[in-house]
Amino acid sequence: MRLSAGMTAVVTGAGGGIGRSLTVRLAAEGLRVVAADVEEAALDATAVLAGTPGVDVSTCVADVADPGAVEALADHAWTTFGGVDLLCNNAGVFQGGLLWECSTADVEWTLGVNLHGILNAVRAFVPRLIGQGTPAHVVNTASMAGLMTAAFTGPYTISKFAALAASECLAKDLAAVGAPITVSVLCPSLVATGIARSRRNRPAGLAAPLSESGAFVEQVLADTTATGLSADDVAAIVVEAVRRGDFLIPTRPSYAGQIGGRTEDLLALRLPRTPDID
Ligand SMILES: NC(=O)c1ccc[n+]([C@@H]2O[C@H](COP(=O)([O-])OP(=O)(O)OC[C@H]3O[C@@H](n4cnc5c(N)ncnc54)[C@H](O)[C@@H]3O)[C@@H](O)[C@H]2O)c1
Repeated sequence: MRLSAGMTAVVTGAGGGIGRSLTVRLAAEGLRVVAADVEEAALDATAVLAGTPGVDVSTCVADVADPGAVEALADHAWTTFGGVDLLCNNAGVFQGGLLWECSTADVEWTLGVNLHGILNAVRAFVPRLIGQGTPAHVVNTASMAGLMTAAFTGPYTISKFAALAASECLAKDLAAVGAPITVSVLCPSLVATGIARSRRNRPAGLAAPLSESGAFVEQVLADTTATGLSADDVAAIVVEAVRRGDFLIPTRPSYAGQIGGRTEDLLALRLPRTPDID
């Protein structure tokens, strides 16, 4: 997909991490960006980094798990910039722990943001994108955790497998109806962001005590993501991949061995191995 100055992008989870870097990178490429997040102050800081707030970038506080808020985000984008060419469904949260220790609220929160956040945006944006009649592109952020499994990561991994499946189904639905809209799925390996501090955004209505196993994996995630790629590097990878027209956007060469090993194990009817993650 061609990305050029004057086009409009929407980025969710733009208050920090990969979403902030994507917003800044797309603005640097000359796109106007609607940046959305639940953290208003962080979002405002992103807008300042990206250019002139209100001109190059417009902010919108929106919880992607709330269908009404995502409809309002789409209204905001069309009202502010008159259309959308690139939609980046990037907002995401991490919740782990032994599966039998994860509460219904743990799973609801994780699926609410990581899966329903994408589906809410599909419903709010895709009919409008089709209505524009011009080429457009959707990038959903899943994870390498959408392509491989590991202990202590149940809610997150389940949500990311679902996000990957949603991206494949969306791409096929759009092709089936002949819409000029394409889809990519970003599957990062480790990235140095605030993902291990996701609980800062957990709504009070879905609060639940953190289990010992949940606390353990949160610490592992904090330690390992600190060694990951920078969010700026990931944003650059995304822009290049969208321009090339890639569906799958990995961030490390290790993705090939990880997918290959999993496929080999499944073909041999074995439980897929847990690869090292970088
Ligand atoms: N960091 C990694 O190692 C890694 C690896 C694979 C995938 N990912 C994915 O990348 C995406 C971005 O995460 P990140 O690593 O930049 O983490 P991050 O915590 O730094 O950024 C996530 C952003 O999403 C926002 N957010 C959280 N809940 C929201 C909601 N309900 N509605 C709107 N915004 C919300 C947060 O306020 C934050 O600004 C997520 O989907 C995550 O699962 C991250």
